This record gives sequence, structure tokens and C-alpha cells, in this order.
Amino acid sequence: MKKKFRTVIRKLDEKRPNQNIIKNASDLIRRGEIIAFPTETVYGLGGNALDPSSVSKIFEIKGRPPDNPLIIHVADMKMLKTLVIQIPPKAHRIIKKFWPGPITLILKKSNLVPEITTGGLNTVAVRIPRNKIALALIKKSGLPIAAPSANISGRPSPTSAIHVKDDLAGKIKLILDGGSTTIGIESTVIDMTQRIPVILRPGGISKESIEDEIGKICFHDSLLSNGSKKTRIHRSPGMKYQHYSPKAKVMLVEGVENHVKKRIIQLTEKLEGEGKKVTIMTTSKSLKVNPEKIQYMGRTLETVARNLFANLRQADKDKIDVIIVQGVQYKKSGFAIMNRLKKAASTRISAQSKSN
Ligand code: TXA
Ligand code: MG
Repeated sequence: MKKKFRTVIRKLDEKRPNQNIIKNASDLIRRGEIIAFPTETVYGLGGNALDPSSVSKIFEIKGRPPDNPLIIHVADMKMLKTLVIQIPPKAHRIIKKFWPGPITLILKKSNLVPEITTGGLNTVAVRIPRNKIALALIKKSGLPIAAPSANISGRPSPTSAIHVKDDLAGKIKLILDGGSTTIGIESTVIDMTQRIPVILRPGGISKESIEDEIGKICFHDSLLSNGSKKTRIHRSPGMKYQHYSPKAKVMLVEGVENHVKKRIIQLTEKLEGEGKKVTIMTTSKSLKVNPEKIQYMGRTLETVARNLFANLRQADKDKIDVIIVQGVQYKKSGFAIMNRLKKAASTRISAQSKSN
């Protein structure tokens, strides 16, 4: 897509969004334009979810395949009820506990939602975001806002206004800048049309926390397979697409911690011997390499999630050839972090013992 706009970035205070800026942004949405705005997870690329021409612009700007549907952001239950034909009891419980927040529900769609927004499916993805700028924008425009992550398709999702600008400058008129997002990875997507709800994309709310609320749920099969490329049924169309890739090659090393650390050091030496510029994304403070090569991901899973996409993007700014990433545990938000890392990685190494 050609660059045709001068992209303006407007800074807002998340706690008290400037009403003039919100008015201006919502006018653009009402006129069928596309703008970027912050949510608590990642920045979204938003337009009127009920207007096929707005939605088609979103697909075009992102370079997104048309069969990969969008999430619709609403401000309240009243708006939600116009988009769906039914809200099952378990969905009500999730809504009560986690909304506004980083969990997206798949529900049966109403006729109001155009087919282009849902990629031709009879279900729709919806959530109320936990960010005052996003909420003010939806309320002021009076419209449900369809918004995928505001990156070029395939790139790491943007967690700051600068990331959005790096990908979309010239393609949109306005970026609302609410600072860095707090969660850092996208919302959990859960299919509530099944008897046992199915997580289609792990994200901001863990499986464990959802189960505490509504009992047994499961992960979609494709999330449990070990990255095999076999044809499967992709209930969430987004599952089949390559994602989160920086320009640098990503190598993911997982396994027993001590072996992982040794393997990372060996790999770094080997790659540097070949003349490659390497960075190491790690949660360890005791890795015995030059600290300049390290991008520390943080101590808790929450911080790792918050910094994840920014770290991947930073490596490209630093003209890194290879990013070696230390895997995290598959528990709680670690499951979502590993899901993103597996998608970003072109090579996965399992370091279980000294010999492998
Ligand atoms: O945190 C988030 O969810 C962010 C912010 C902006 O809200 N949005 C986001 O949107 O990550 P996007 O478009 O990048 O991812 C939407 C995911 C895709 O994997 C898509 O396939 C899935 O939701 N999805 C959307 N509608 C669906 C449907 N009807 N059935 C199954 N999966 C659906
Ligand atoms: Mg996305």
C-alpha cells in the first residue's frame, strides 16, 4: 500500500485522556478512517466494525489475509448485545470477572456484524479493553471498533506508539500515544460457543485463572502440538499464519536451565565466529557473557511479557543478525509467552543434557 498521509502522533494521559483529542479521533472513526490507539495489551489499528469499507481499509493497511478475522472492541454490555445473538452463562462469568481486560470471547454473531469483519465466519470476537483512552474512543464514537494489532502483518505486535509509527507511518493519519502498554502480549482468545470452552490463542489471562472461574476449559490442539506443520483444522484462522517475526533470525533455546545457559554460550561463540551479530534475550542474571550482548527480559513472567515484543523490535534497530532467546516455563502467562516465541523462532533447540 502506498504512503499517502502525514501521520500525527498525539500524546494522551491514560488516566485523564484529553477530550479534544478523543473527539478528533472519534470523528475520524465516524468518517470511516483508520487510526491507531493503545489498549492494555498492544496497540490496535481501529475502524468502524460495522462499516465494510472501514474494515477493508484495516486489512489493506496491515497487509492482512482476508480470512483472518478481527476483534471488535466495545465499551459496555449494551454495545456487546447488538453484536451477538447469545451470551452463554460461562461467558457471563468471564465477563464479570475479567472485563474490562485482556480476554476476547468468540460468540455467535448477529446480523449487524458484516461478514468482512469476521472473515466470513458466523462467530465474532469481542472484548472490552482495560485502557481509558481506548474506552473513551469507543464511547465518543458510539461505535464498536474493529482492531487488530497495529503492526504490519507478520511483525511483532506494537507495544508503543513508536512501534506503530515504525510500521505504519504514512498509511494512517493518527496514532493516539498512551505510552507503553502494560500487559505487552495480546488478549487470550477463547471460543465460548463450545460446551467446553477452547482457548484459541493464549494471552493476557492464563488458562489457570479462567479455570478458577468457570471450571474445565482446554487449549486448541494446535497449541499443544510441537510446531508440526501438518494440516489441521484451524479454528482460529490466525493460527496458521507466521507471526511476530523480527528481521533477525530467532533461535529459541529451552530445557533444563543449566544446560540452556551452556548451550546459549556455545551458540553465541559459534555464531560470532561466523561473523554474526548476536543478542541474547534472557531471564538469567548469571549468564557468563559480555553484558552488552544481553537484553534482560525481566524477573517475573509479567515483565517478560511486557518487554517481549519491544525486545524483538529493538534487535532490528540494533541491526542484529541472530536473537538467541532463553525459553520460559509453560505455566500461567509463560504459556502465552512461549506461544509467541515459538511463532517468532525459525529454530528451536531443546537443551536437556550436556550432549545435545
Ligand atoms: O489484545 C488483543 O487482542 C489486540 C488488541 C488490539 O485488542 N488485538 C489483536 O488482534 O491481537 P489480532 O487481529 O491481531 O488478533 C485477533 C485474533 C486472531 O488470531 C484471529 O484469528 C482471532 O483473533 N479471531 C478473530 N475473530 C475470530 C473468530 N470469529 N473465530 C476465531 N478466531 C477469531
Ligand atoms: Mg496481531
